[in-house]
Amino acid sequence: MCGIVAYIGNKEAFPILIKGLHRLEYRGYDSAGVALLNQGAMNVYKCKGKVSELEKFIEGKDIHGTIGIAHTRWATHGEPNDINAHPHYSESRNLVMIHNGIIENYSAIKQELKKRGHHFESDTDTEVLIHLIEEVQIKDNLKLGDAVRQALNEVVGAYAIVILCKTNPDELIVAKKGSPLVIGIGKDEFYVASDATPIVEYTKDVVYLEDEEIAIIPRKGELKIKTIKNKPKTPSVSQLEIDLETIEKGGFEHFMLKEIYEQPRSVRDCMRGRLNINTGTVQLGGIADYEQKFLNAKRIIFLACGTSWHAGLVGEYLFEDLCRIPVEVEYASEFRYRNPVIYEDDVVIAISQSGETADTLAAIELAKSKGATIIGVCNVVGSSIARATHAGSYTHAGPEIGVASTKAFTAQVTVLTLMALRIGYRKGTIPSSRFHQLLNELDAIPKKIEAMLAKNEQIRYIADIYKDATNALYLGRGFTFPVASEGALKLKEISYIHAEGYPAAEMKHGPIALIDEEMPVFVIATRGANYEKVVSNIQEVKARKGKLIAIITEGDEIVKELADYSIEIPPTDEILAPLLAVIPLQLLSYHIAVMRGCNVDQPRNLAKSVTVE
Ligand code: G6P
Repeated sequence: MCGIVAYIGNKEAFPILIKGLHRLEYRGYDSAGVALLNQGAMNVYKCKGKVSELEKFIEGKDIHGTIGIAHTRWATHGEPNDINAHPHYSESRNLVMIHNGIIENYSAIKQELKKRGHHFESDTDTEVLIHLIEEVQIKDNLKLGDAVRQALNEVVGAYAIVILCKTNPDELIVAKKGSPLVIGIGKDEFYVASDATPIVEYTKDVVYLEDEEIAIIPRKGELKIKTIKNKPKTPSVSQLEIDLETIEKGGFEHFMLKEIYEQPRSVRDCMRGRLNINTGTVQLGGIADYEQKFLNAKRIIFLACGTSWHAGLVGEYLFEDLCRIPVEVEYASEFRYRNPVIYEDDVVIAISQSGETADTLAAIELAKSKGATIIGVCNVVGSSIARATHAGSYTHAGPEIGVASTKAFTAQVTVLTLMALRIGYRKGTIPSSRFHQLLNELDAIPKKIEAMLAKNEQIRYIADIYKDATNALYLGRGFTFPVASEGALKLKEISYIHAEGYPAAEMKHGPIALIDEEMPVFVIATRGANYEKVVSNIQEVKARKGKLIAIITEGDEIVKELADYSIEIPPTDEILAPLLAVIPLQLLSYHIAVMRGCNVDQPRNLAKSVTVE
């Protein structure tokens, strides 16, 4: 987590850095800071709170300089306060550094450095690392780049760092392991950031630094990259595909609302070139070379966290139903530390919007080391997970900025549906008529999502009624159980109302005890194999006087009668219902959070890209 941005060139650095920090604020917003070099003076400004607090703090101060570094923090070591904010100084104050990641052995290094007379101001691991770098530099009389290299050989953990040296205004040193870092190349200028969003406005030419690489970035001249083992590397320049418009709010009040409304387009983009109704085919170029692995697989394992994990749950239902392959859905954080049984004929599907989630990445490495085939389903092109997998299919949902994931979820489910259809068809586990019927239904989904979005006013009305709830229960069965879990996650993460997602029938083994006339129960009761069963579960809620809000299939008068409020979704095949049923739940959480005065795009304590374990 944390966002880092840096600039060296001919322009004033400050406006570029601040704008970049705003774009990266989704990565953390506990504190923000900036360091600028101006005519031999190093000006460091930092404070607790969001980037806007930093802007206020800086008013009237010297913000000039054509080289600078900036940081927005998601706290790991040390509480979010002014002192723990980045940048951090070295002992002599000649160096300052920003850091995204965790130095796991910082405590032992800190003790050693203290013995050697170092003084620390903060509780952070970052400060320890920059002290270590300077210690190595002075002790062995090294150039800064070499000192960084040597110091990084001593640390355990993850880092994306940028270092600014007071006595060298013509150079930035950056390095990376486990946390993302991209370098933008302009004309006689360079940009550095945690992702491409602060850079895209200025240049499309970028270099993604690899793990354990260091870059020496000069004010003029060529970018030099080497590994921390001192092996020179040739920078590999790629072209950014995102544009500025897609990362701005486009007239919506919040990114989350914009992203909810983008779903007809993002789902369509995700299917483009893959689903062909005219020829009745599904093709996924990214995994074409690995289809045999799927066909031979004895098991599929999904690895993910958060919302992506819920997409994996939908994947479980899809692959078991359409491909008849047994599936496990694993929290990456549990899997990686559990000594799991992994076979060479397992196909592991790692799902991640950001492609940077540390637990997912580590779980992938573990599965890879045991010989499994790793397939990625990522949104961010060129991200660490996308690069760590053998093959994969991008979701093509476009940049997702709101911390609560929406369009990435529907795109993930769309990709998994396409994959399961393709593999099931190749395996012969889907009858031809059903295959073609599903292709047509899937093709119609974007239009049906539009129809769901047209119900926004009705959903806002319902949100107003339940906005003061303290607890909420979400129920679903079969394909809609993962959607119930996702609906509950959306509500709790942005409105801070406690919510649980449960399989509807499992309610009677616990949550039913919570139901009273105060408790809203959101039930997904769309038509499908379990419909009658869900109606029985609804009766159980009604009998306890629970408030019932049902997501139903258009024209269902039975559940409409029973529910306090109902929201209709267009008819579709039950395996595709998650793509429609999730939309009203996203909108409900959004409106409830807005009505409660919560910060929808940047909910407290959360971050979009979780690069710490
Ligand atoms: C964080 C985000 C969630 C996301 C999860 C997994 O918790 O707030 O929205 O679902 O990380 O992230 P990933 O990028 O791997 O999908």
